[in-house]
Amino acid sequence: MIFSKIKKHFSLFAIRLVEKRTIQKMLAENDQYLNDIVSSFVQLKSGQHTSEDIVVFNRCEAYRKSLLNNHTLISYEIFGQNKSMKVNEICSQATSKSIWAQLLYLVTKKNKSPYFLEIGTNLGVSGSYILEALKAKIHSSFITMEGVPQLCQISNNQFSKISSSEKYTIIEGLYEKTFAELLTTNVNFNILFIDGNHRKESTIEYFNNLKSNLKFPAVFIFDDINWSNDMKQAWKIIKSDLDVSYSIDMFKLGIVIFNKKINKSKAKHYYLHLSY
Ligand SMILES: C[S@@+](CC[C@H](N)C(=O)[O-])C[C@H]1O[C@@H](n2cnc3c(N)ncnc32)[C@H](O)[C@@H]1O
Repeated sequence: MIFSKIKKHFSLFAIRLVEKRTIQKMLAENDQYLNDIVSSFVQLKSGQHTSEDIVVFNRCEAYRKSLLNNHTLISYEIFGQNKSMKVNEICSQATSKSIWAQLLYLVTKKNKSPYFLEIGTNLGVSGSYILEALKAKIHSSFITMEGVPQLCQISNNQFSKISSSEKYTIIEGLYEKTFAELLTTNVNFNILFIDGNHRKESTIEYFNNLKSNLKFPAVFIFDDINWSNDMKQAWKIIKSDLDVSYSIDMFKLGIVIFNKKINKSKAKHYYLHLSY
């Protein structure tokens, strides 16, 4: 346990040590999606945000704060579990921390016409950031998927304050049913955030099936790639997929970029450290 913690901190230190060189190499690729990741990363590291971004971040964090004061009980009956949790507990355990949600926001905002799919709506915290980024874009949409009906209601209530209902869809139901339905629709996603079911088989299944529904170029963002051995294995398989052009390992998040123009045998793999 202690040995693996030391190993982790040592490798993150090594990643930070060569960060400038890594960024230079990434920028030299001249790939729009890679550039968007790099400039979002640099902005977050420097903390130099525009006043518009600060207003958005404050608004989204005010929503998180309201959830942390909400003690409504949410039932997990849909998963066949006799379990319930308070909104404030769910918020502190399951939602993306601000820095990661801000990364999603910046990457989405830099995209000219983002068609965003999120697997894992939860309370709509990451979704709020994403919708804020889509707001001013005519050609864009946000589809997000969640099994727990009460969470869908809460998220819908929040999303309706940010955006008109044409911009977003919450697909309610268990992925075991709704995922197959999603694949029959004609939406070509170009940004995909996979944050629903952190099991190896499900993660790989989403990845493989969604690959054929992509609008090239496209970026997949996987949450919690080091959360379990299962997820570590899933990430290893994903980043070595033959269609992947670039991978960026941020320890918590794993990002892969697809760009048809890039020679498949020349996939490049980068490591960056933003936060724990
Ligand atoms: C980690 S949370 C998503 C957090 C959210 N993206 C954020 O950052 O604010 C994952 C969500 O996926 C939902 N989920 C997990 N497995 C599911 C399944 N098989 N079907 C439907 N929903 C599922 C859970 O109910 C939970 O709300």
